[in-house]
Amino acid sequence: MKFTTSFLCLLVAFIATAADTNSIYHDGWIDLDKNGRKDIYEDLSRPVANRVDDLLKRMTLDEKIGQLEQSPFGKDPVKQPAGKLKAGDISSFLDGSALIESPVLRNKLQHIAVEQSRLGIPLIFGHDSIHGFRTVFPIPLAQACAWEPELFERTQTISARESSAAGIDWVFSPMVDLARDPRWGRIAEGFGEDPWLGALDAAASVRGFQGTNCADTNRVVACLKHFVGYGAAEGGRDYNTTEISEFTLRNFYLPQFKAGVDAGALTVMSAFNELSGMPASANRHTLTDILRDEWEFPGYVVSDWESVGELVDHGVAADEAAAARLALTAGVDMEMVSTTYLDTLKQQIEQGEIPKKVLDEAVRRVLTVKFEKGLFDHPFTDANSYKTAFLQQDAIDLAREAAAKSCVLLKNENGALPLSPQVKKLALIGPFAEDGEEMVGPWYSRAHTNDIVSLADGLRAQLPFDFQLAIARGCSILETNSGKIRRHIGDFSPVKERWTGTNEIAEAVAAAKSADVVVLTLGEPRDWSGESSSRSDLGLPGRQMELFDAIVATGKPVIVVLFNGRPLAIPKVQKQAAAILEAWFPGIQGGNGVADVLFGDVDPAGRLTTTFPNRVGQVPFYYNHSNTGRPGFGDYKGNYADGPTVPLYPFGFGLAYTTFDYGKVQLDSPEMKLDGTISAHMQIQNTGERAGTEVAQLYIRALAATTGPRPVRELKGFQKILLQPGESRDMSFNISGKELGYYNSKGNWLVEPGKYQLWISKDSASGEPVNFDLVK
Ligand code: NOJ
Repeated sequence: MKFTTSFLCLLVAFIATAADTNSIYHDGWIDLDKNGRKDIYEDLSRPVANRVDDLLKRMTLDEKIGQLEQSPFGKDPVKQPAGKLKAGDISSFLDGSALIESPVLRNKLQHIAVEQSRLGIPLIFGHDSIHGFRTVFPIPLAQACAWEPELFERTQTISARESSAAGIDWVFSPMVDLARDPRWGRIAEGFGEDPWLGALDAAASVRGFQGTNCADTNRVVACLKHFVGYGAAEGGRDYNTTEISEFTLRNFYLPQFKAGVDAGALTVMSAFNELSGMPASANRHTLTDILRDEWEFPGYVVSDWESVGELVDHGVAADEAAAARLALTAGVDMEMVSTTYLDTLKQQIEQGEIPKKVLDEAVRRVLTVKFEKGLFDHPFTDANSYKTAFLQQDAIDLAREAAAKSCVLLKNENGALPLSPQVKKLALIGPFAEDGEEMVGPWYSRAHTNDIVSLADGLRAQLPFDFQLAIARGCSILETNSGKIRRHIGDFSPVKERWTGTNEIAEAVAAAKSADVVVLTLGEPRDWSGESSSRSDLGLPGRQMELFDAIVATGKPVIVVLFNGRPLAIPKVQKQAAAILEAWFPGIQGGNGVADVLFGDVDPAGRLTTTFPNRVGQVPFYYNHSNTGRPGFGDYKGNYADGPTVPLYPFGFGLAYTTFDYGKVQLDSPEMKLDGTISAHMQIQNTGERAGTEVAQLYIRALAATTGPRPVRELKGFQKILLQPGESRDMSFNISGKELGYYNSKGNWLVEPGKYQLWISKDSASGEPVNFDLVK
């Protein structure tokens, strides 16, 4: 169908003020640029590359530069940037509470961009849906402990559905930064310390967001962040400098990004940090040599929030123009929030300081993703779908399942857990007992207070009728003698921290004394992890240890449930509690999921993906370190003069409600060819009286490698299996020569013949290895 120009103008005018509609899109044609023709870029039947080429040819220098600007929402987003939108000066919006759950507002902005700008290039709307949108799931670090990458695919599928119903096209997730230092608050947002497992989780997350075609309704464009090395911040201080050798970068920090790119992620975010002498947002080696040239990443790179402008603060750019030049030529296509591109690129390009080709390539990449997302063809969002899309039953069920699967049982003395039917009086104590708002952790997106199930609610819902539950807070999370240190944001009401004196602890002690068993909830405030929330101490803050001591002193069995966003150094709790369940920040169904585990309806099958230190002074602390020349003396297994050097809990650790016996590893051959495989077998038996799930882990070690020292163990496989009481199963793992490769310091991937060790074990610190030779 073809419109006459005057009819089209009338129609556009009507649409700009009317309710959301897609009615101008007919028979595969859009025609909004008022030229009355069907241009190639408007033709849905053309390949994306042709459409991009055609559009690029039509764009002025200003319009091109405009495609590289991502703007935050102002107070009045419709009014404020309307002029800019008409001029094509904004390519994307991020976040802004005004937008969220207000797809009508989003559509209004899109109408301006599509109908009132010269070429009608649509906006792309981004948001931080990190672990859910309205249905908030456990934090990523928690979900990683399920050792079930498909869980990410499922939760991020729901997150994509809810996000896109709110008008979001693009999420700034997954965060795939490897983290070895629990002081760094953003450890909560990632998958832990292992690059192999992290790579599986990264790819699964991308599949969850983008599906097989990110243009489908209910799908969003994913963004791998933060490229790269952000998790290695010195001292765990956020945004801090990192110094990572090419060897370590390739073998530890890049694999998750590579896996995400291979899974089809269409965008990458450049990081804030300096990386080995050059800020990541100006780092041509990582952004162009590796990401573009080696990996052939087809999408675009967006900077982190003002990280282009911050090149001046880093001291590598004298002014905004230099910052823009550095970032763009390094490979940052879109600038988030700062406006150095918008303000300076035109002049620099006109004066020949930046080749026009560099600009065109960046614009091409941005447009390509917009076409791939289908924004040119379906720029508007259904303004009503969020009303039914949020909190659907499958989402709630999955949130509960994920909360239970993320739990890691760290201690269980004398079968303190699961709660036995003989327990008739339970005291639920501690600052998290009734506090649902803390359950959601950092980046809780659009969680609503009323949607959250606290642990008290979760337990009450499952208690047998003859059960007595006493609840006492004991203390607040951060309470000190001097008063409050809390900040609350978003939908959540401010919490009034008050100094309660010793009375509250006394009440808690009284409740404990009258109970058979105590469930004591302890942890960190949810906003002590996430961005800009590092810690210099890894203990329990406030008066929580005072509360712990008082409750332990009652002599009752104390089951500690931890709510936190990072590994904690809590050796005293490990020593004195009867049981410890690490629940992390479990999301809006946390209370139900954790109660499922406490009552034994779900077996705790989570295993740690980060090392827990005994003391903060041990960090960074990770299982896949190299040997020193003096193993056992001053290294991981050696001694600090003043305390332990072993971890509190190693990577891979976690108990079940039953016990498992591991047999001896058998190899089908003592040799493996470089292009061959080897099969490792092991008999695992459930030796307890309950059914239980075990996560059997396969590790290898290369004993002599010219690539450089290899870690003392590297995870290369795992299997999660449910075994009935007494059941024995022959576990078999195949591993191929190519999986044993490693990067050398020049960035070359080598599979080296030589001697290897192999373990099948419960965690990274147990088991006996067998040897094999990798031969030509
Ligand atoms: C800064 C954070 O580092 C990044 O992870 C986030 O996606 C952006 N802000 C946008 O909110």
